Amino acid sequence: MTKNKENSSWEPVSEWYNKVVGATGHYYHENVILPKLSKLLSEANPASLLDLACGQGILSRNIPDRIEYVGVDAAATLIGSAKKLSKNKKHQFIVADLTKPLNLPKKDFDACSIILALQNIPDAKQVLKTAASHLKTGGTLVIVLNHPCFRIPRQTAWQIDEPKKIQYRRVDLYMSPLTIPIQAHPSQGASSAQTWSYHYNISDYTKMLKGAGFAIDSMDEWCSDKQSTGSKAKMENRSRDEIPMFLAIIAKKL
Ligand SMILES: C[S@@+](CC[C@H](N)C(=O)[O-])C[C@H]1O[C@@H](n2cnc3c(N)ncnc32)[C@H](O)[C@@H]1O
Repeated sequence: MTKNKENSSWEPVSEWYNKVVGATGHYYHENVILPKLSKLLSEANPASLLDLACGQGILSRNIPDRIEYVGVDAAATLIGSAKKLSKNKKHQFIVADLTKPLNLPKKDFDACSIILALQNIPDAKQVLKTAASHLKTGGTLVIVLNHPCFRIPRQTAWQIDEPKKIQYRRVDLYMSPLTIPIQAHPSQGASSAQTWSYHYNISDYTKMLKGAGFAIDSMDEWCSDKQSTGSKAKMENRSRDEIPMFLAIIAKKL
């Protein structure tokens, strides 16, 4: 992938990502994110949904058929897969760069989602402005992030405190914004395709949301449901239940 951070599209890793997600989602899509999202969306009960940075359309395949759906992503190959995998002819998929305003006439969606993607786009403020400009007043925005406190690439890690017999999360940096290149295939070293991660703290996200015209309705923190076995199972399961993997932010357009 180009090392130019302005080009954050996952086109160069699209074949790999498409395989990882498949038709039904990767492990955390299937076991944590989609079940929790279904609940959130059924509470909001939208008639229409704009899915920003939709990838190969995993969310579109996990919503009720009656919802009018538009998915947008910069990666043409992922959008092509989304179209192929879609069983609903009314779903629309668009290739567009969300660091720029979105050329889409509909401005009154009931809901907008940004799933595991806001941290992969260099201009999060612009993405939130786009969400606001295509939502109706009172419309719902659902953002799912890798938890910005505990899952900062290269800055957080599991460690073991032997005397206390606990596994804990080490956090080396949190307050400062950070741009982090991620190798898609670490075994290939410098020749690996690369994606980008853009870290912000939670105060930054709340300011960005307010600036884009949203009020935060609620936040939900989601843990991994995996279970360890073996000699370290107790400490691993405890730390998994205590340190969330994902942060969902539910906001309303003012
Ligand atoms: C981790 S994937 C998540 C995709 C999908 N929401 C999912 O849960 O599978 C991040 C997505 O952000 C998209 N993306 C990154 N930069 C973008 C941009 N500037 N405009 C639109 N999409 C972008 C990538 O192409 C990729 O599909």
